[in-house]
Amino acid sequence: MNNPLFDLILKGGTVVHETGRELADVAISGETIAAIGAPDSLGDATEVVDVSGQYVIPGAIDMHVHFREPGYTHKEDWETGSAAAAMGGVTTVFEMPNTHPPTRSAVEFRQKQECAKKACVDFGIYALLAEDNIDEIQGLIDAGANAFKCFMGNTFGNLPSPSTGAMLEGFEIIAQSGLRISLHAETASIMAWRQSKLEAAGLNQPLHHIVARPEVVAIEAVARAAILSEWTGARIHVLHISSAGELRPLSEAKNRGVDITGETCPCYLLLDASDYERLGSVIRVNPPVREKKDSVAIWNALQSGVVDMIATDHAPHTLEEKTNDNIWKADCGFPGVETQMPLMLSEVAAGRMTLEHYVRISSANPARTFGLWPCKGRIAVGAHADIAVIDMARQEIISATKLHSRGKVTPFEGRATTGAPIHTLVRGRFVQRDRAIMPGVSGHGKQVTNIQSMPAPKPCNVDQSLAAVLATGEET
Ligand code: NCD
Ligand code: ZN
Repeated sequence: MNNPLFDLILKGGTVVHETGRELADVAISGETIAAIGAPDSLGDATEVVDVSGQYVIPGAIDMHVHFREPGYTHKEDWETGSAAAAMGGVTTVFEMPNTHPPTRSAVEFRQKQECAKKACVDFGIYALLAEDNIDEIQGLIDAGANAFKCFMGNTFGNLPSPSTGAMLEGFEIIAQSGLRISLHAETASIMAWRQSKLEAAGLNQPLHHIVARPEVVAIEAVARAAILSEWTGARIHVLHISSAGELRPLSEAKNRGVDITGETCPCYLLLDASDYERLGSVIRVNPPVREKKDSVAIWNALQSGVVDMIATDHAPHTLEEKTNDNIWKADCGFPGVETQMPLMLSEVAAGRMTLEHYVRISSANPARTFGLWPCKGRIAVGAHADIAVIDMARQEIISATKLHSRGKVTPFEGRATTGAPIHTLVRGRFVQRDRAIMPGVSGHGKQVTNIQSMPAPKPCNVDQSLAAVLATGEET
C-alpha cells in the first residue's frame, strides 16, 4: 500500500456547520482537519472510521466549569472533570477560579496549571477579579490567564464580592489586555440582606432560595456591569442567565455596542419552580432556577441571539453536601458537562432547535467570543480536529451513578434523552470512543491560547482611569 495521505478519515457522516450540513468525509492529519470532501473522494488514511448515519459536529466549548482542583478534590479533579467533558462531547472547557486556594495571583495560577496537566480535553483557566487582588491582575495576565471571573454575588467558595469601586479599577486594567471578564451577575448585598431576614424568620424551604435571590438581583447586576464595561471598554460575558428580566439590560447594552455576551445552562431551559417540590435541595443552584416564564423567555433569547451560548456551570458536590432539609445548608450547583449535549440534542430531536443552531450556540459562538476562532468552533480545513460524532437515535437515561464526574447527584436523574456523542476527538485524537474513555488520554489536553485573533479592544476613558490619574499625581 502507498503511504496513506492522512492519519484518519471519518467516513460517510453528515458534517454539520452553523450554516448548513453536507454529506462528507473528514480527513485528519496530526492535530488538524486536513480535508473535507465528497464521500469516498479523499483517498487513503492510516485509519478509516465509518460514521455513516451519524453527524460530525465541532466539539462543544463549555465556558463555565468548576473542576475543583486544587482544594476540593473530593468533589472533582481535573482528570475526572475532563473525562466527564470527553464523555459529553465537550472538547474545550474554561475552568473557574473558586478553588482552594482561589486563582487570584500568578503563583496560584501556576498551581492551577500544574493540576490541569491531567486534563484530556483542551482548557482555558480563569483568573479571579476580587476586592483584594487588584495588584495581582497584571501578573495574572502575564502568567497566561485566558479570561477573568468576577463574583458579583456570593456563591460556592464564599469569595467576597468586589465593591463597584474595585470592579471599575479591575475593568480598567483588564480592558487593556482584551481578555473577557465573565460575571456571576447577582448583587451580593441584596441577597445577603434578604437571606438573613428569611433565616431569622425560620424560612428555610427550597423555594425560599428564589425569594432570597429574586430576579432583580440579576437585573441590577447585569445593568451595572454593562455600564462599567461601556465606560472602560472591557469585554464582558454574563454567566448562567436565569431570568427574563436580565435579558433587557443585556440586549440594550448589545444595541448600544457594548462588547457583552451571555450564556445560559440547561437547567434554566428545562426546569422551573414547579420542580422544587420534587427535587428538594438538589435543585439549589446560583442563580436559582426560576419561573416557567423565565425559561420561555430564555429559550426565545437563545433562538434570537440575545443569549449567545450554552454552558454548563458544571458544579459537582457530594450527595451529603447537596442533601439538607434546611435549604441554606445545601451546597449550590450540580454536574453538567457530561449531560449538556444529550439534554440539548433531545431538544433538537423534539424540534425545538436545529442541529445547525446547536452547533452555533455550543461551539461556534463560544469560540468567537473568547478568541478561539478560527482554530476551534468549526469543522473546516486548518481548524483543530476537535470533533463530536453524534448518534441522533441513541436513547439513554441520565443516571448520576454512571457519570464520570465525582458529583453523583443531578436534578436530571432518570430523564430520558435522545441523541448522544458516541466519539469525541481532541486535536485529532480519540479521547472518547464508543461511549468509553480511551486509555492513556489523561494529559492530552492543552491550555488554549486565545484572543490573538480578536481585534484590539477600543480604548475608552483611559485618561480617567485610576492608574492614569495616580500617574499624573506622581509627576507633579
Ligand atoms: C457554583 C459552584 O459550586 O462552584 N455553584 C453554583 O451554584 N452555580 C458556583 C457558581 O458558578 O456560582
Ligand atoms: Zn456563578
